[in-house]
Amino acid sequence: MEREKFGGRLGAILALAGSAIGLGNIWRFPYMVGENGGAVFIIIYIAATLLLSLPIFFAEFIIGRRTQSNCIGAMKKLAPGTAWKWFGALSIFIPLFILSYYSVVGGWSLEYLVQACSLTFTNADAVEVRGLFGEFITGTWGPLVFFTIYLLLVLGVILGGVRKGIEKFSKLTIPLLFILVVIIAVYSVSLPGSSAGIAYLVRPDWSKVTPATLVNALGQSFYSMSLGMGIIITYSSYIKKQENPVVTGFATGVSDFLFAIIASFAIIPAVFSAGIEPGAGPGLIFETLPFIFTSLSETMPVLSSIIAILFFLTILIAALTSSVSLMEVGVAYFVDEKKMKRSSASLLVFTMVWIAGAVCSLSFGPLKGITLLGNNIFDIFDKFASNFLLLIGGMLTLVFVGWKMDKEAVRDEFTSSGKARGSRRLFESTYFLIKYVAPVLLGIVFIANFL
Ligand code: PHE
Repeated sequence: MEREKFGGRLGAILALAGSAIGLGNIWRFPYMVGENGGAVFIIIYIAATLLLSLPIFFAEFIIGRRTQSNCIGAMKKLAPGTAWKWFGALSIFIPLFILSYYSVVGGWSLEYLVQACSLTFTNADAVEVRGLFGEFITGTWGPLVFFTIYLLLVLGVILGGVRKGIEKFSKLTIPLLFILVVIIAVYSVSLPGSSAGIAYLVRPDWSKVTPATLVNALGQSFYSMSLGMGIIITYSSYIKKQENPVVTGFATGVSDFLFAIIASFAIIPAVFSAGIEPGAGPGLIFETLPFIFTSLSETMPVLSSIIAILFFLTILIAALTSSVSLMEVGVAYFVDEKKMKRSSASLLVFTMVWIAGAVCSLSFGPLKGITLLGNNIFDIFDKFASNFLLLIGGMLTLVFVGWKMDKEAVRDEFTSSGKARGSRRLFESTYFLIKYVAPVLLGIVFIANFL
């Protein structure tokens, strides 16, 4: 049977943007900008994207589209009989591993959307609302049920297939995400006292720029574009030969960046207007923001309830489109290599992820006693994947395309056999970045994680 493809350029770009736009854009980027020098950080971040993330994106794209295969199949075609198949295997393992704990957070956002719709944040006492999160995640059944429903939603999209599932879902949700986040940003900057937040985001502050700033920019940009875990390999294997890789890469990078910037204006000004210290991570979206919604409901109950609903809807959708891309990597493998039906492959991946995810979900409650250096299972999964596995995946991708693959094959794919406009001129510099610059930059992030 012929392998499915994305219908066209827009569908492919929106699917890739859906993977890139995720929780990282919402709960980490805004805080990182403020803490690392505002406008200065933004410029460093753009440079990090051009020098590190886009070269890795192109390297993954070249592997995926050249072979039109899943990650293991790609290695079998490009480097038959070599240990590179283990790179393929790693690229399939990582996303499933990440999906297990990412979906737990997805479950939390679903629960918070339900809470927002039931006006919990409107009617309660602000301090109590802040404590709800701790109560919720330490439970047994609540988080497990929402995690399961969340994962079933992801499964639903995947079962629809590449075009009628992933592509259609992305075409619907990515424009919606932008509309939602713009609405919230307009509201946020209009709050009294929000200007301090705007200044925190944009005022260039060189005193906050340290070597750690560079590492933060590189690491965040790399994570945000969903690199190092086979996603770009898998999605590009569904992209038609005539599409221009350069256009696809830049469009993905720009949408991811734009969303992160607008999300910063949606969150930080509101945080400052409430007189709270900004922060990052789950605490920001599940504790600080509900507190703000509740405080605001005293003066504008209707508007703040609506914004709360829109906000958790944004989080949920952003997480869903990323999760879909994570699940597809595994499904593509079972369909291509094990010749399974898409439905059976999807169910198999769902079951594996569900088991690992259930353990992560319970690691805040009944399993919280299991820890390593003070980290529960959820944190161990997160740290191991983000600080270690992804970077290994990214590095192997660069080494493979820069050092192992035949340069002419790389050129042929990057330029769509010479037909992609502008790509011939960019090839030599991109190749140089893939071969030398990006590995060094990624190596710096890797080492910094251990310091
Ligand atoms: N890029 C996503 C984000 O910014 C994160 C992500 C990580 C998505 C891993 C898929 C896989 O949140």
